[in-house]
Amino acid sequence: MTSELRTLSEGLSDAISDYVSSNPVSKSNHDKASEYFPAGNTRSVLYTSPFPLTFVSATGITLTSADGSTYLDFLSEYTAGLFGHSNERIKKAIQDVVEGGWVLGGIGQWEGLFAQRICERFGLQRCRFTNSGTEANLMTIAVAKAVTKRKKILVFGGGYHGSVLAFPDVDSQSPMNVPHDFIVGPYNDIKYIKTLQEDPTTTGDLAAIIVEQMQGAGGCYTASNDFLQSLRALADSTGAILVFDEVMTSRLHPGGLQARNGIKPDMTTLGKYLAGGSSFGCFGGKEEIMRVFNEARSDGGSVLSHAGTFNNNVISMRAGCVAMEILTDEVLENMNKLGAGMREKLNNLFVKYGVQEKVWATGVGSLMAIHFGERKGGEWTEYVKARNKSAEELFWFWMIKNGVYLARRCFVALTIEHRAEHIEQFLNSTEEFLEAWSHVLQ
Ligand SMILES: Cc1ncc(COP(=O)(O)O)c(C=O)c1O
Repeated sequence: MTSELRTLSEGLSDAISDYVSSNPVSKSNHDKASEYFPAGNTRSVLYTSPFPLTFVSATGITLTSADGSTYLDFLSEYTAGLFGHSNERIKKAIQDVVEGGWVLGGIGQWEGLFAQRICERFGLQRCRFTNSGTEANLMTIAVAKAVTKRKKILVFGGGYHGSVLAFPDVDSQSPMNVPHDFIVGPYNDIKYIKTLQEDPTTTGDLAAIIVEQMQGAGGCYTASNDFLQSLRALADSTGAILVFDEVMTSRLHPGGLQARNGIKPDMTTLGKYLAGGSSFGCFGGKEEIMRVFNEARSDGGSVLSHAGTFNNNVISMRAGCVAMEILTDEVLENMNKLGAGMREKLNNLFVKYGVQEKVWATGVGSLMAIHFGERKGGEWTEYVKARNKSAEELFWFWMIKNGVYLARRCFVALTIEHRAEHIEQFLNSTEEFLEAWSHVLQ
């Protein structure tokens, strides 16, 4: 039976059977791990039904699974793998660190230089390091509350700032969220910000506004410049601290997306790729805020403690210094140009097959998301209500079958190792999918 005659559910059922029979070692690994980890994993985003693939090695942008299949990696460790899987300079830096000994329990020789490189790149006056982006955002919120002596934190529906700071919609927060006094506003809604500005019970107690300029987990939808300006104005008029969460977006321009947008926050949070693929997070910004961590201050001001055993782990520190050298403006811009071209070509393909109202790609530069559902003019929080999850899954299984690895939610991140021929392979597999299945997307 040709695929033209098959329904979406038949296609999906065949794809799953084929996936199960092609990946017995991954399945067995998953089954064993499930005896100890709930759902066999220790990182929810990596779980895919019926079981995720197990990988055993990686070179460049090629992943090898325990079942012996190779995949071109278009997930790139949810953006943290920006340098690919085996960059020679980063490998050498880590090897050197290991030779010299680790877990020093003191100040190492690299963290000061790494801080300098990060501060200069992103225009921060002072910064502090953490182990993850989640921790960077938690620290930032804590600092904002301590400095302003206020309690309310304005965030936006569709925003993701970490596993305990997730706001899938304006009216739904993760039950795991830390218990701050969050106000969850609609993303990109300038009228809402204006209304808020006139509400003294909110403005008088607003400690921080935290926003992604492009919502990474929220479907790669971007904030308009006017919306970001309205947040800057709200922070200025109320004394709240404006925080740009650039954990995902800092790779979209040499100075972070804030440099491209031309709007300066008071604080910025960072993470993902910056330590060359080792665990990392960072928060920083104005000295007048960050001085609360200055144990050496002599002005009598209050001092807060920022601890963290692995904040300066030497592997991340050394790898980070080298990563910043590798990532010249030119290298970064080339990667983002490649991504912009890829997104345009994807959207052209969706038009060619007449499915552009059912499948479309969003994003900025090297980050993008492919959506299946009912295209709406609005934001992610609108779109997700009409998401076609079965079509999304069929596409994912199709790409996996064709040796292309991407997030199950069809999120794509490029690396500095991606080249035109890799993009070509992604586009060809997508076109073959559309040839076979566009009838179920109409
Ligand atoms: C915008 C944003 N903020 C924060 C985080 C949390 O970072 P981490 O996973 O390193 O804790 C993420 C992770 O995806 C993110 O995309």
